[in-house]
Amino acid sequence: MIKTHVKTSSEYDVITGSGILDSVGSLIRERDSKITKALVVSETNVAPLYLDRVMASIKAAGIEAVELIYEAGEQSKNINTIVNMWNKMAENGFTRTDLLVALGGGVTGDMGGFAASAFLRGIKVCQIPTSLLAMVDASVGGKTGIDIPAGKNQVGAFWQPMLVLEDTDCLKTLPDETFTEGMAEVIKYACIMDTKLYDLLVEKKDQGIKIREDAELMEQIVGMCVKDKDYVIEEDEFDNGLRQTLNFGHTIGHVIERNSNFSLPHGVCVAKGMGIIIDCAVAKGTLEKDEADKMLDLIKAYSLPIDDAITPEDSVSGAMNDKKKRGNTISLIVVNKIGKADIVKMTPDELLSFLKKESK
Ligand code: GLY
Repeated sequence: MIKTHVKTSSEYDVITGSGILDSVGSLIRERDSKITKALVVSETNVAPLYLDRVMASIKAAGIEAVELIYEAGEQSKNINTIVNMWNKMAENGFTRTDLLVALGGGVTGDMGGFAASAFLRGIKVCQIPTSLLAMVDASVGGKTGIDIPAGKNQVGAFWQPMLVLEDTDCLKTLPDETFTEGMAEVIKYACIMDTKLYDLLVEKKDQGIKIREDAELMEQIVGMCVKDKDYVIEEDEFDNGLRQTLNFGHTIGHVIERNSNFSLPHGVCVAKGMGIIIDCAVAKGTLEKDEADKMLDLIKAYSLPIDDAITPEDSVSGAMNDKKKRGNTISLIVVNKIGKADIVKMTPDELLSFLKKESK
């Protein structure tokens, strides 16, 4: 079991390991004696697998537990689902000392966190991520939100959890595609900041996504990513500097994701985005070709793509509509050396020229 203590504006533990789901209630209770009620939010794919265990564990700790199950999928990530959560808590007499538990992948974590951030002007949330992507990234750091017609995650809040519980046994039940897309975020940490993780992934790359069968290895990998995320968010909780490096591959990845009408998984689009930026950095002359080839090989080894048919022009117009844009510039994350990311501010013309590989 790996414990990471996160020291952001409010402090909390992230506990990563096998079999944690049965201790959810006691781990919450150890940290807060005032909670009397918990709303456990989950979705139609995850609830049949894990909800009963989590509810039983919470009740065994003397906390009254009610559940809300929504229809799985990005299409549910909207204000109606949030209102259902608020109504459920109001109908059950929740007070400011009560708790929302988000059991599921990134969509559940984002929505649960957002519902908790605004109910009675803010109640506690415990994140229980069940996907690789949510374990290594979305559940840690307090970004919450929902989609609106204008875009993904356009409305939300920073709301740090009181506790994050990551049962790595949940990785065993993930569809291959969902595990694979999580590997894109793992590889991202390796490329932007963690050469030890990078070396480990290279060492295991012949196994590809079969690494998921090695429980100890997965605990180690998830734990390393959580520690990387912790380092970043302690330095820059509100996304004004270092935290932006976590967007490596995301600027173009988000455009590809939107253009696919969200039919392509997020992690797959991030992998494509990383591949495109790596390729352009070589053309620009800031990244050595052999370093680039190593990173591209690593992405491919874990069954992820490294390119896309998107044109530079479409990439730029999409990126300029991204919520991360500030003023008329976009902060592009470029890796010029394995394990180190740079934030490069670019105008639309500069980004176009970079993506067209125009200048050295
Ligand atoms: N998912 C990127 C971040 O938390 O900033």
